[in-house]
Amino acid sequence: MPRPQNPDVDFTTVKLSKETQAKLAALGKYGETMDQIIQHLTTQTKGLEDVVAGKSSICYIDGHEGRLLYRGYDIADLAAHSTYEETTYLLWNGRLPTSLELKAFTEELGSKRPIPREVVSILTTLPQNCDTMDALRVGVSALGVFDDPMYSQQEKAMSIASKIGTVVAAIHRHKHDQDVIPPREDLSFASNFLYMVTGKVPSEADARLMNVLLILHADHEFNASTFTARVIASTLSDMYSAITGAVGALKGPLHGGANEKVVEMTNEIGTPDRVDAYVRAKLASKAKINGFGHRVYRTMDPRARILKDMAEHFVRTEKEKQSLEVIDRIEAILLKEKNLHPNVDLFSGLALNHIGVPSYLFTPVFAVGRTPGWLAHVLEQYADNRIIRPISDYVGPQLTAYVPIERRSSSGVRP
Ligand SMILES: CC(C)(COP(=O)(O)OP(=O)(O)OC[C@H]1O[C@@H](n2cnc3c(N)ncnc32)[C@H](O)[C@@H]1OP(=O)(O)O)[C@@H](O)C(=O)NCCC(=O)NCCS
Repeated sequence: MPRPQNPDVDFTTVKLSKETQAKLAALGKYGETMDQIIQHLTTQTKGLEDVVAGKSSICYIDGHEGRLLYRGYDIADLAAHSTYEETTYLLWNGRLPTSLELKAFTEELGSKRPIPREVVSILTTLPQNCDTMDALRVGVSALGVFDDPMYSQQEKAMSIASKIGTVVAAIHRHKHDQDVIPPREDLSFASNFLYMVTGKVPSEADARLMNVLLILHADHEFNASTFTARVIASTLSDMYSAITGAVGALKGPLHGGANEKVVEMTNEIGTPDRVDAYVRAKLASKAKINGFGHRVYRTMDPRARILKDMAEHFVRTEKEKQSLEVIDRIEAILLKEKNLHPNVDLFSGLALNHIGVPSYLFTPVFAVGRTPGWLAHVLEQYADNRIIRPISDYVGPQLTAYVPIERRSSSGVRP
């Protein structure tokens, strides 16, 4: 049912902050008039596309230029020069740390890595074949029960960000009936994570690649899982609940699961000469091809560009080279035929496999990387909170008289 139009309401007088007006006006340079943009906002397109759902000073995405900034810093610069620890500090504090600040922050993060033995017991009683994101959801929720109740919000954030990698590694080890490896404080977050997963301290190059993957996934504005975390935080529920909810949202294949599917797809295709037939069959059946398309980017996802450049250097084995050739060929066809661009998931699976992370851990590792961003948004929400409670465009029946049960039938009301 269309929303009744009130002739007294002038939609061009919708109240918008100066910042939002400026952002909308900037969008205008891509051809939409202010009236069209406001109309767009007030008609609430499906999936809240282009709806400005709140203010944030954490992450900026320019979907037309393919630019991503954390607190004003370009993702390309952070990927080239920063670390997981430094980027986490930046997201939470709004500025880069001094060397003393970074040292203290890194030490505190490192010291909180061990998880309570009760959480290890819970994780190791789960079925070994259970979905790793289900196990992660249980693990994060359990952390909330066993963490120190006297922790401040900052300490809780520090604890979750430090421990989530340990939880993911424990899930992996249990899956293979292997002993859970306790974390090492002397390693960086990225190195220690790979060490807890594989049992070996990684090479510098692998640790660097892990760092870059974590940085690239650290935040992405009001994506579905972050928005979920903010909605939960806005009820003044606790941080563990917010992150547990975010894990649940990330589990969905439209959000977090696409890189695993990309690896399956490249394995299924096999050799580059089989790409054309595969892609054309998919397009003909209107199926989506994982690793392509994005709600916000209208050009190549900058994270995909960074990983693509890195992939050209890190691929070594024949299988990796072939996968990259297959991906390149799919990219060329989709750009030409559908103007579709790669997203971060197109190359992240290749990178994760390269450093020894198995496919079923891809989405949990995405969660580990996104945790600093989720927490930054939860802290920002708490700092200036109002419960997030939008309204729906009601399309159901109008007021209907209650019908006694003896007069009902499945096809309607009996006279
Ligand atoms: C990311 C994604 C969920 C965005 O969804 P969205 O903003 O709702 O976009 P839509 O699904 O409405 O797609 C718009 C159009 O592009 C097409 N399209 C989008 N992504 C596509 C893809 N990966 N393969 C083929 N066609 C695609 C749609 O079929 C649709 O075409 P139509 O207008 O002719 O029907 C979507 O692109 C997708 O499912 N991609 C594959 C999964 C993936 O890689 N996810 C990781 C995201 S980082």
